[in-house]
Amino acid sequence: MQTVTYHRQKVYDPVLRVIHLWNGLAIVFLMVTIWLSELFEKGVGEETLWHVHIYVGYALVVGIVSRLVWGVVGPKHARLSDMWHPAVWWNAVRHFNLQAKPRFGHNTLASGAYIAVYLMLVVMAVTGLGLAAVEHGMGPFNTWFGDAPWLKDLFEEPHELIYYALMGFVLVHIAALIWHENKDKTPLAQSMVTGYQYEVEENHSTSIYTPEGESNA
Ligand code: HEM
Ligand code: HEM
Repeated sequence: MQTVTYHRQKVYDPVLRVIHLWNGLAIVFLMVTIWLSELFEKGVGEETLWHVHIYVGYALVVGIVSRLVWGVVGPKHARLSDMWHPAVWWNAVRHFNLQAKPRFGHNTLASGAYIAVYLMLVVMAVTGLGLAAVEHGMGPFNTWFGDAPWLKDLFEEPHELIYYALMGFVLVHIAALIWHENKDKTPLAQSMVTGYQYEVEENHSTSIYTPEGESNA
């Protein structure tokens, strides 16, 4: 019987994991307020819901800024450079090669999507803060845009468009994690919970991971 040996490495530090959880929950919560807003007619309920959306939006802004700062000052696998693989993306486009080489750290292909998501989240934060000022007289942009209602469309259109793109990302991200879980011999989804990633060593006779090779890189 062929058995498989794993060795594991700590890749995602606790700060990165907490930020991932924080941003993931904030994004889902923001989407839920949008779905609920469609059930409300104009009135007190809808106004309250938008206020909830704005306050959760502030929480997301804090999460995005924290992630970007941690991407510069954090450990190796939290750095934005761990997600920067232009040669792999170019190869994927040229040869339609969607097989990413296994490695410790962020998946090299998925990283392209993660960077796009952070860019979209920055636009969401700026346009969301703009809408909070223009439509509700709230937030840090209120001093600049509070009396400029004509800016509404400028903020609203990208905000709505990116909302659909982010819903697409969340669905594909979860589907990809489930797919890897079933297809690969190594677990992946739990790495954002426990911090550990696993690598298979072929043709060994025991079946548990080996602790050597562990590092806190
Ligand atoms: C709506 C929810 C979610 C959003 C918006 C989201 C977003 C992201 C983003 C932006 C990254 C890039 C990582 C980084 O910042 O360093 C990422 C990576 C990752 N996420 Fe999520 N995530 C969500 C849910 C989940 C769930 C439920 C799991 C499973 C526990 C998960 C597991 C992972 C893993 C394992 C990675 C790293 C994958 C790799 O090796 O490239 N995510 N996620
Ligand atoms: C992932 C993050 C976000 C998602 C998915 C999201 C989604 C949406 C959507 C779909 C709308 C409706 C647009 C329309 O009227 O057509 C909206 C409106 C709005 N969002 Fe966001 N948003 C996010 C982040 C933020 C942030 C960070 C803020 C600010 C702190 C914010 C503040 C607002 C405001 C003020 C409105 C207008 C409410 C109104 O019409 O009275 N959003 N958002």
